[in-house]
Amino acid sequence: MKEHYDPERFRELGKRVVDLLADALAAPGAVLPWRTPDENLARWPVRDDGGGDLVEILARAIAGSTRLHHPRYAGHQVTAPLPAAALCDLVSAFLNQGSAVYEMGPVANAMERQVVRWMASRLGLGDAADGVLTSGGSAGNLTALLAARQARAGWDAWSEPGPPLAFLVGESAHYSISRATRIMGWGAGGAVAVPADASGRMRAGELAAARAAAERRGRRVIGVAASACSTATGVYDPLEAIADHCAREGLWLHVDGAHGAAAALSERQRWRLRGIERADSVVWDGHKMLLVPALVTAVLFRDGRRSYEAFAQEASYLYDGGGGEANWWDLGLRTLECTKLMMALKLWAVLATVGERALGEYVAETYERTARFAERLAAAGDFEVIPPESNILCFRHVLPGMDEGALDARQARAREEIIRGGGFYFVKTRLGGKTWLRVTVINPLTRDEDLDALADAVRRA
Ligand SMILES: Cc1ncc(COP(=O)(O)O)c(C=O)c1O
Repeated sequence: MKEHYDPERFRELGKRVVDLLADALAAPGAVLPWRTPDENLARWPVRDDGGGDLVEILARAIAGSTRLHHPRYAGHQVTAPLPAAALCDLVSAFLNQGSAVYEMGPVANAMERQVVRWMASRLGLGDAADGVLTSGGSAGNLTALLAARQARAGWDAWSEPGPPLAFLVGESAHYSISRATRIMGWGAGGAVAVPADASGRMRAGELAAARAAAERRGRRVIGVAASACSTATGVYDPLEAIADHCAREGLWLHVDGAHGAAAALSERQRWRLRGIERADSVVWDGHKMLLVPALVTAVLFRDGRRSYEAFAQEASYLYDGGGGEANWWDLGLRTLECTKLMMALKLWAVLATVGERALGEYVAETYERTARFAERLAAAGDFEVIPPESNILCFRHVLPGMDEGALDARQARAREEIIRGGGFYFVKTRLGGKTWLRVTVINPLTRDEDLDALADAVRRA
């Protein structure tokens, strides 16, 4: 093994690997080098003889992978990471800080606390706010809802399951919210759907009726989960009206800002988040709109003490003195993970080297580019669009004389043909009983011309 730890060998290898990535950035090739799952399975049998050439293996892996840095990538909400942020992850992986306890991540844990407080401050959550970083928005939503349960159940819900509770959840909330309520043992009735308008925005006026209906079914409702913004259409729930309702009714307010909380960094777009400062908990993903590689999600609590309640158990072999704020540096007390990556490094470093202003400008530009694209599509007359509020846009190509079924099939067929050709990557979704094409303009390298070329490709397909 010793030779594999040779510093000079590593130095040489590292330079060649960075060259590979720089080449991939310079000439990304096909957005998605299309192969079927079985074809890829056949291309990657495990070889365990140890005789492989790492640079060759990595070059093949890069060549076969979806290229998020391609200006014509506009697919799922995963960012084209800043290359420098990817280097931070290399360092993070090399250092391999366990991070659950302070001694296994002295810098990691300090940076995490600072970054988390910085994010909370940008949302206006106040001086008492605190939280943690965790592995993705889904884990983040579960963490927040666990804390809500402990705060509002009225008994020690960590130790005693008690009767099932419920959260009011917008119809278009991300599935990880209803997954979290099921994980907590609340069953199918644990996430009570609140009707949405045609764009997928929660109707705050329906909250009281949804709650009353749930209570008639024997459920006690403890909170509301709002989206800022929603996954499918990228629209923001009316946070102020929802916060008013929660304040009046004594409900916990959770805001899933995995994607859209980043609007807080833009002077031009910040207004969309009005009301978020009144949330009890917020989730905000770095790997969506902060240009850092997956995974890194902040789970923020307006009352930072709630952060110690999500996972109330103690592991005395790991932690001295149990939970409580006195032990903020033992992060594992507050996260799903025990061993976790040094997640804060990339966020901390991007803030220091790129800066908040540039990130805010990036967010605003993607939102504005998407709005312009929607206007051009609507003006063209052969596209139907759902007016966007962020950098997510749903649209469909409409041709005269086609019924809804044929139009649905046409969207799906056009997408399939285009993505298999490797020229673009975008996705589709079902909304209001119809199939829509969906782009997320997340890559800072994407230009208006790329989006127009996509529209033309859809017309031609
Ligand atoms: C609003 C929202 N919440 C949560 C998630 C889940 O986040 P993750 O993929 O980081 O688990 C997503 C993912 O798209 C999302 O859009």
